Amino acid sequence: MHRLPLSLLLFVLCSRAKAGEIIGGRESRPHSRPYMAYLEIITPQGYLAKCGGFLVRRNFVLTAAHCAGRAIVAILGVHDTRQKEDTWQQLKVMKQFPHPKYKHKRMQHDIMLLKLKEKANLTLAVGTIPLAPQFNTIPPGRTCRAAGWGRTSVSGSDPHTLQEVKLRLMEPQACRHFAQFDHSLQLCVGNSRRKKSVFKGDSGGPLLCAGVAEGIVSYGRPNAQPPAVFTRISHYRPWINKILEEN
Ligand SMILES: *[C@@H]1O[C@H](CO)[C@@H](O)[C@H](O)[C@H]1NC(C)=O
Repeated sequence: MHRLPLSLLLFVLCSRAKAGEIIGGRESRPHSRPYMAYLEIITPQGYLAKCGGFLVRRNFVLTAAHCAGRAIVAILGVHDTRQKEDTWQQLKVMKQFPHPKYKHKRMQHDIMLLKLKEKANLTLAVGTIPLAPQFNTIPPGRTCRAAGWGRTSVSGSDPHTLQEVKLRLMEPQACRHFAQFDHSLQLCVGNSRRKKSVFKGDSGGPLLCAGVAEGIVSYGRPNAQPPAVFTRISHYRPWINKILEEN
């Protein structure tokens, strides 16, 4: 089964006019999700890419490990990525902490903390979100939401405004076609009978359930057919807490 990491190379987007965003969702009310971070990344190969992320401390953003790069800038307070607004706070990433067990080939442990050079100022448009606690077992069947600036269709263009979509948490069997899917480390998200999913460019963004971040967009199928795989945040709370305490 082919897997597609849901980061988005802007180079690919420009040259082939094929990108992806939240599919089947709608535009978020501007600044209604103040924890969302828009990440501009210089990849290890020197390309420009983008990911989503979310603010968990004034100086820490949580995202996916496959969004790591040579350099990253986090922009907070963004609704429309094309129009710089007074709400924007652009912060350089001082240090990237990809999970030590992350390997691109397996796409497990796809989680990374980014330490920002300065603390963000908390405003109406910029704020933090709580993370799922360690022993949180969120049951399949729950409806959650994902948000991101990724593509809105397989062949369509990029949206420039933040989009969000309601997605159902699935039983692990619904992701059994992904050979490396591991229920203890990951969440299987999105009903296969609905045309709703996350897509290219959404990587690193949150899965939000009742005001808590439960997952991180990791990968899906190249044709965007749900479900997609998210990193299960609760499993990584000890690692997250350790990095936050020590840095
Ligand atoms: C936070 O506010 C202070 C005071 O207005 C300003 O100097 C600083 O640059 C702001 N920080 C960010 C990240 O925008």
